[in-house]
Amino acid sequence: MDISAALQAWMLELDSFSIDMVPRFADRPVPSQVLSVMSTHSAESMRSSEAQQGAPFAEAPVDRAAALQCIAQEIAACKACDLAAGRTRVVPGQGSAHARMLFVGEAPGAEEDRTGDAFVGEAGQLLTRMIGAMGLQREQVFITNVVKCRPPENRDPLEHEAAACRAFLLRQLASVNPEVVVALGAHATRSLLQHDGPLSAMRGRVHDVGRMKVVATYHPSYLIRMPSMKRAAWEDLKLALSLLKPAAKPTA
Ligand code: URA
Repeated sequence: MDISAALQAWMLELDSFSIDMVPRFADRPVPSQVLSVMSTHSAESMRSSEAQQGAPFAEAPVDRAAALQCIAQEIAACKACDLAAGRTRVVPGQGSAHARMLFVGEAPGAEEDRTGDAFVGEAGQLLTRMIGAMGLQREQVFITNVVKCRPPENRDPLEHEAAACRAFLLRQLASVNPEVVVALGAHATRSLLQHDGPLSAMRGRVHDVGRMKVVATYHPSYLIRMPSMKRAAWEDLKLALSLLKPAAKPTA
């Protein structure tokens, strides 16, 4: 689906809930800082004290794609928790190694376990529309989860499972070194912010984790169940979008 089709689909959803303050990107060109999501990157590296301790990369590696591939291979071999025994495929996450925005969900579901790709089921389709509404394409961002293997019967990941996968997540963050991280739902928010408060207390503002900016919002699965919360989620996404630095001007 192209950007404007995705945008229009999301706009229709928003409109169906009488949301009238969204920018009408469909009527005008997508802002250049949005479209250039793959072409420029902040030189700043993630320096959260935890990332420095727990992640191998204090600076983003020169070859980010190779670093991500290396992490994915380690995930494929991981048997650190019981989820490994029940998985069909690992789901390390996918997207641009140079993404300026990175999304973190909770855990793979049935469709993700079957395909090996994050967010490809119903929640994934809504996430695609949310990303499209921001003027982005899925291929321009990076999408991953707190845990990389499907929990049985789609139950929530347990604390020790999230902890076992955490080093992988931190290394993915350090490798991509995005300008903004969007935490989708309570599990991602807890894992990224190491905070036990309710999601409602954490969303709607910017959290500094080292040099990384984190915006928490509702999980797409929750938004499917509670469409009235899409309005608040859209506010969070606009906040995340506003944190992208303006694109570097091309040199003559
Ligand atoms: N699919 C994912 O990959 N992650 C989620 O959190 C939900 C669905």
